[in-house]
This record gives sequence, structure tokens and C-alpha cells, in this order.
Amino acid sequence: MSKKIGVGIIGCGTIADVYMTNITQHYNNIDLLAVADMYVEKAQQAAEKFNVPKACTVEELLAIDEIEIVLNLTIPMAHYAVDMQVLNAGKHLYSEKPLTLEIDQAKEVVALAKEKGLMAVSAPDTFLGAGAQTCRKLVDEDKIGNVVGFTANMACPGHELWHPAPGFYYKNGGGPMFDMGPYYITTLVSILGPIKRISSFTTIGREERNILGTMTKTEVPTHYSGIIEFENGAIGNINMSFETWSASLPCLELYGTKGTLTVPDPDSFAGAVTLFDGQKLKDMVDAVTDPHPAKIITMVTRQGECKMDQPLVFSYDPDPHTNMRGLGVSDMAQSLIDGRPARLTSEISLHVVEALNAFEISAKTGTAYEMTTTCERTEPMKEDWELWEVK
Ligand SMILES: NC(=O)c1ccc[n+]([C@@H]2O[C@H](COP(=O)([O-])OP(=O)(O)OC[C@H]3O[C@@H](n4cnc5c(N)ncnc54)[C@H](O)[C@@H]3O)[C@@H](O)[C@H]2O)c1
Repeated sequence: MSKKIGVGIIGCGTIADVYMTNITQHYNNIDLLAVADMYVEKAQQAAEKFNVPKACTVEELLAIDEIEIVLNLTIPMAHYAVDMQVLNAGKHLYSEKPLTLEIDQAKEVVALAKEKGLMAVSAPDTFLGAGAQTCRKLVDEDKIGNVVGFTANMACPGHELWHPAPGFYYKNGGGPMFDMGPYYITTLVSILGPIKRISSFTTIGREERNILGTMTKTEVPTHYSGIIEFENGAIGNINMSFETWSASLPCLELYGTKGTLTVPDPDSFAGAVTLFDGQKLKDMVDAVTDPHPAKIITMVTRQGECKMDQPLVFSYDPDPHTNMRGLGVSDMAQSLIDGRPARLTSEISLHVVEALNAFEISAKTGTAYEMTTTCERTEPMKEDWELWEVK
């Protein structure tokens, strides 16, 4: 891999660490040339830790000619302003999720990018990982037939248990849907295509959260229960919660006319993919000659025989738990090198921003929200992509 694309990072907080690790140690087509933060000392610490040539202000970073792609790793509330700053400086943008908080802001960012001939996309890039790509391939190969339904669930007690600066999760732009919804919605869109409409209810369990020792008012919904209808007809429920201490729900399951597909955690790049073969169950039940109840007993007791773990057929780190964040940036860089479209597009990121807002709007109005944006599924990954070097 000879050519490398210069990248810069704005926002040297919690998640920046894994991006910096992966860009400096694993992705072989991108070079981290500079890092910036509103607190320059944070940038300096990061530069020292990862041997980055320059730590500077945001303005200084955006003035570096060799930087072609800028990663916006600031908090969601700051995304829109920083996104616009990056594009106005003539750089391609990869923002952490969501692209912006509001739909109109996302449209403005996408319009500016288009006007300037730049890419403007947002995380997550987990849908490009081996887990989600294997699931997409199985669906495209008709292994579960037409997808009729799904369930998507993220249930945890809240990020203040572990995050060093968790305040933003309970302010405008926070909450479980804006924080974790992008993983689930992007993965679903990458497999099923665009969303048609969304209905939702929201609530708040704990009115105050302990934010670094101070009881702080919860300003956003912390528990969402919604329903999504896709353009292709699939419908399913989605639960996103910072109110759940424990749950036994699958992260993501797709229910098709021929079988069921259990998708790995959409906030991961690999994981277990399980296929339930409905035809196999039908054949087993059909083979039972005794009438009721023998057929029912067969159907209930032999389900396990129809479940098969599926091999991941796309490249991933040998440790399936490795956080490969940066894959979307690396694919963007390769798209510049190869002169092809990137797999993460502005249309997908904008569609996801609209969907996140749709849950809020539907909950407030008590009606289903009809989506106004759409997006196309992009090329699947090459099975043997080689942008990641195993160390
Ligand atoms: N923490 C995680 O595990 C995690 C995982 C996936 C994605 N994310 C996403 O990553 C983003 C950042 O989250 P985080 O947890 O790293 O937050 P954080 O608060 O730990 O870090 C954010 C950093 O951005 C800097 N910053 C904020 N506004 C700025 C501005 N206008 N200009 C320059 N610097 C600015 C802050 O000083 C801070 O260093 C969010 O969008 C979040 O949704 C976080």
C-alpha cells in the first residue's frame, strides 16, 4: 500500500484514543498529521502519546494543506459548527455520530459538501465490519427470504457509570437514541435500504443523574420504544434505553419468510452471526407422521438443530472484539486513491439524522413521522479488503 491520505483529528477526548491507535498502528492508507482540541493541552498530550507530528488549534489544523480528511470527534452539540468549519476549509469531513443534531443542519452540511465537491459523512462505520457485511450478504443471497420484521435493542443503565465526562449524554443531543440509535439504524439501512416511517414513545425514568458526583437534571428522554417501517415493507421495533439495569433482548434480529438471522451487536465490527433455517424445521415437522401433539413437540424441542453459526466471510482483526473504528475513514481515503465512491455517503448520514429526530417528533406529536429523505445502499465491502494491518 503506497499512497496515504493525510488526516487530522479535531476533538481529543474519550473516543479519540481508539481512532488514534487505529490510524497510527493499523490503517495503512491514512496518515495522522495533526490533532486539535478546544483545550490545546489535550491535543498536546494526544500528539505525544501517538507520535503525531503536530498538536495545534482547530484553525491551524484546517490550514494544513496535506490534510485531506478531517475527523470531527467533538461532542454531538458541537458537530454542526465544526462540520461547517471543516467543509469551509475545503476538507472532506468524517464526523462522529450523529452528523448534526437537527435535520436542517444536516441538510445544510450535505448541501455545502456538494457545492464544494467534498465528502461529508458520519460514524458509525461498524456496518462496514465483517459482522454486518456477512449479514447483508446472507440477506442478499436470500438465505432468510424477504425480511418481514426485526427487533433492535440497546438496553443499559446509562453511560455515567463509566464515561469520564458523561454530562452530554443527558443534555440536548444526548439520550440513548441519539447516542446508540445510529449504530442500529445505520446497520438496518445498510441491510434493508431506506426507512419509510417511524412511530415512537419516549419517557424518563430517573429525573436526575449522578454526573461526576453532582445530581444533574435529565434534559432528554432516556427510554425509547419505537416502530420502524422500511420502504421494502419490513417492520420492527426498536428499544433504546439508559434506564435498563439488565435485559435478555437480542441486539438485532431479522425475521424473514425463510428464516431468522441474529446480527452481532451493531456497535461492533465482528461477532457471532446465527442463521435459523426455517425450511429445515418445516422438513423435520413434516417428517413426523404422528399427528398432534407429536408435531408440536418436534417443532418446540428440535429448534436448536436448525440454528447454524455462520462464518464471517469479510476481513477482520483476528481478535473479534477489536474496536476497528476508522474503517469508514480508511474506505473514504481509498475512494480518493482509487477514484470510486466511498461506501459511507452523505445521504446515509442525513437519513440517519432524520430518523433520530423522527423518534422525538413522533413521540411529541403522537403520530407516525413520514421520512422525507432517502438513501441508496452502497457497494458491499470486498471480502478480502486489506486496509488493516494486524500488529
Ligand atoms: N466515548 C465513547 O465510547 C464513544 C463511542 C463512540 C462514539 N462516540 C462519539 O464520539 C464523540 C465524542 O465523544 P467522547 O466520548 O470522545 O466525548 P469527550 O467529551 O470525551 O471528548 C470530546 C472532545 O472534544 C473536544 N471539543 C468539544 N467541542 C470542541 C470544539 N468545538 N472544538 C474543538 N474541540 C472540541 C473536548 O474538549 C473533548 O476533548 C461523540 O459524538 C460521541 O457520540 C463516543
